[in-house]
Amino acid sequence: MSTSRGPAAHLRARPEDDMEGMERPPSRKLRKLLPFFAPYRGRALLTVLLMLVVTATGLAGPALAQVAIDHGIRAGDEGTLVAAVVLFLAAGGVGLVAGYWQSYLSSWVGERVLLDLRTALFRHMMRLELGYHERVPTGRSVSRLTSDIEALDSLVTEGATSLIINGLTFVGVVAILFAYDWQLALMAFAIFPLLAVGTGAFRVTSARAYRRTREKVAEVMSVLQETLSGMKVVQGYGRQKPAREAFRRANDEYREANMQTVRLSGLYFPGIELLSGIGLLLILWFGSNRVLDGDISIGVMVAFIGYLSSFFDPIQQLSQLYSTFQSAMAALEKVLGVLETEPTLGDAPDAVELPPMRGAIDLTGVTFGYRPDRPVIHDVDLHIGAGETVALVGATGAGKSTLAKLIARFYDPTDGTVAIDGHDLRTVTQASLRDQLAIVPQEGHLFAGTLRENLAFGCPGDITDARLVSALEAVGGDELLAGLPEGLDTEVTERGSGLSAGQRQLVAFARALAADPRLLILDEATSSVDVRTEQRIEQAMEALLPGRTAVLIAHRLSTIRRADRIVVLDQGRIVEQGSHEELMDLGGRYAGLYGDWEQATTGWAAGTA
Ligand SMILES: Nc1ncnc2c1ncn2[C@@H]1O[C@H](COP(=O)(O)OP(=O)(O)OP(=O)(O)O)[C@@H](O)[C@H]1O
Ligand SMILES: [Mg+2]
Repeated sequence: MSTSRGPAAHLRARPEDDMEGMERPPSRKLRKLLPFFAPYRGRALLTVLLMLVVTATGLAGPALAQVAIDHGIRAGDEGTLVAAVVLFLAAGGVGLVAGYWQSYLSSWVGERVLLDLRTALFRHMMRLELGYHERVPTGRSVSRLTSDIEALDSLVTEGATSLIINGLTFVGVVAILFAYDWQLALMAFAIFPLLAVGTGAFRVTSARAYRRTREKVAEVMSVLQETLSGMKVVQGYGRQKPAREAFRRANDEYREANMQTVRLSGLYFPGIELLSGIGLLLILWFGSNRVLDGDISIGVMVAFIGYLSSFFDPIQQLSQLYSTFQSAMAALEKVLGVLETEPTLGDAPDAVELPPMRGAIDLTGVTFGYRPDRPVIHDVDLHIGAGETVALVGATGAGKSTLAKLIARFYDPTDGTVAIDGHDLRTVTQASLRDQLAIVPQEGHLFAGTLRENLAFGCPGDITDARLVSALEAVGGDELLAGLPEGLDTEVTERGSGLSAGQRQLVAFARALAADPRLLILDEATSSVDVRTEQRIEQAMEALLPGRTAVLIAHRLSTIRRADRIVVLDQGRIVEQGSHEELMDLGGRYAGLYGDWEQATTGWAAGTA
C-alpha cells in the first residue's frame, strides 16, 4: 500500500476489481441482461414494431417526392401529385405519433429494466458477506449502483432505439438506391470505404479515450468520497491543501481525458460532413449527366439527394452510439462482475434452521486469515458454556474482533469448525443464526433515521416505544434521551455524527438489549464514555448478561472481572484462560496486562491500546 500519492492513493492504485483483462464479448454480456427484459417483453416487442413504422415513414419521403415529380408534375397528373402530397403528410403524421409512442415505451421499458437491475444489484450486495464489503471500498460499490447503471441507462433507453432505427434506415437506403439505379448508387457509395476506414479508426481511438474518462471519473469519485468521509481528520490535520491538490489533479486528468474525446469527435464529425458533401457533389455531377442522357428521371435524382442525407446520418449516429455502447459495456462488465460474485457464506443447500439456542459455543481447531496465506487466528480451541460470560482480552491486533466475527459467522474459518449447540455454523441458515444473536461492534454505527428506528434495528417484529425506552434506560441512556429535543423521534444523521461517540455506544448497547438475543457479542470500544456513564454501563451489563451467553471483548478491567472466564489472546493464539484470580496467580501474560492497567490511573485499559 503506497501512501506517496495523496490521501486516496491506496484506493486508486487498486486495479478495478478482479476483472481486468478478462472481459467477455458484448453479446455474452448482453445476453445476461435479457432476463431483465423478460417481464416487459410485450412492451419491448411493441417498441420494436413502432421502430419499424418510424423507419418506414422516414424512408417514404424522398420516394414520394420522386413520384410527385415524375408522375405528378412532369406527367401533368394533378391527382397523383395530390395523392403523393397527402401520403407525404400522412407519413409525417404517422411517423410523429409512432415516434412519440416508441420513445415513450422504450424509455418506460428501459427505466423499469434499470430499476430492476439496480434492485437486483443492491439485493445481491446485501447477500455478499462482510468480507466482500471490507475488501471492496464503499465508493466502488456506490459507483456500481450509480454511474455504472447510469451508463447502461443511455444504452438501454436511447441506444437500442438508435441502433435499430439507424441500422434499418441505413439498410433501407442502400436497398432503395440500388433499386432506383445501381450505377448512381455505386457512385454514391464510392466514398463508403473512406467512411468505413475513418469510422473504424474513430471507433478504436475513442473507445480507448472513453475508457480513460471512465477510469478518471472513478478516481475523482474516490478522492471525493475519501476526503469527504475523512473530513474530520483532513481538517484536523490541516490537510485541506493536499486534499485540494489530489482532487485538482484527479479532476484535471479527468478533464484531459474528456478533451481527448472532444478532439476526436471534433475531427470525426466534421470529417463525415465533408464526405457527405463530396457524396452530394458526386451525385449532382454524375446524376445530372445521367438525367441529361435520359438514363434516369429528374425525380429519381431528387430522391437520391434526399436519401443521401439519410445515408450519412445513420452512420454518424451509429458511430456516436458506439461510444455509448463502449462505456455501457464496460459498466455492464463491472455490474455483472458484482452480480456474479458468489456469496462465499451463502446458506448451504441443505442448511437447517438453528433451533432456539441454548448458547453453547465450540471452536475446534479454528484457523483463519483474511488472506489465506496470512492466518491471524491459529488453531484455536475454545468451549463456551451456555449462559457463560467470557471475556476476550489481549493486545491490539491479537485477533479478538476476528474471533468474534467467526462466532457470528461473518467469516468461515479456513480450518476447523465453529459450532453452536453442536450445530456447525456452516450447516445452519444465516437468518436463524442472526435472529438469535446480537453483536455490538467496536465502531458503533448509526443509520440515518430516527433514534427509534436505530434502537429497533435488531428487532424483527414490532416493538413498543416503552421497551425501547426501557432498553435505553437500562444501559444508562435516560439522560441522553432527556437531552434530545424530540425524544425517540430525533433524527440521527448517517453514522450518528450528531451524537458523541459515547452516546453512539449507548445506543448500540440499547439496540442489542432491545433485540434480546440468546448470544451477545460485545466488542467494547476502548474509551468512549465518561466514568459515570461507564458505571451505568456496568449496571447495564448486569441487566444484559444474565440468561444468555456473552462474549465480551473487553478493555475495561471492570468488564473483564465481571466475566465468568477470561481468555487471553496473543497473536491469534489462546495463551491463557481462567478466572481473574487464577490468571493473577499464574503470573503470566494476564498478570502483566493487569499490571499495566493498574498503572493507568483511571483504571481504563490504556495498557492494551
Ligand atoms: N478486514 C480485515 N482484512 C484484513 N486483515 C484484517 C482485517 N481485520 C483485521 N485484520 C487483521 O487481523 C488481525 C487481528 O485483528 P483484530 O481486529 O481481530 O484485532 P483485535 O484483537 O480486535 O484488535 P483491537 O484490540 O485493536 O480491536 C490484525 O493483524 C489485523 O491487521
Ligand atoms: Mg478489535
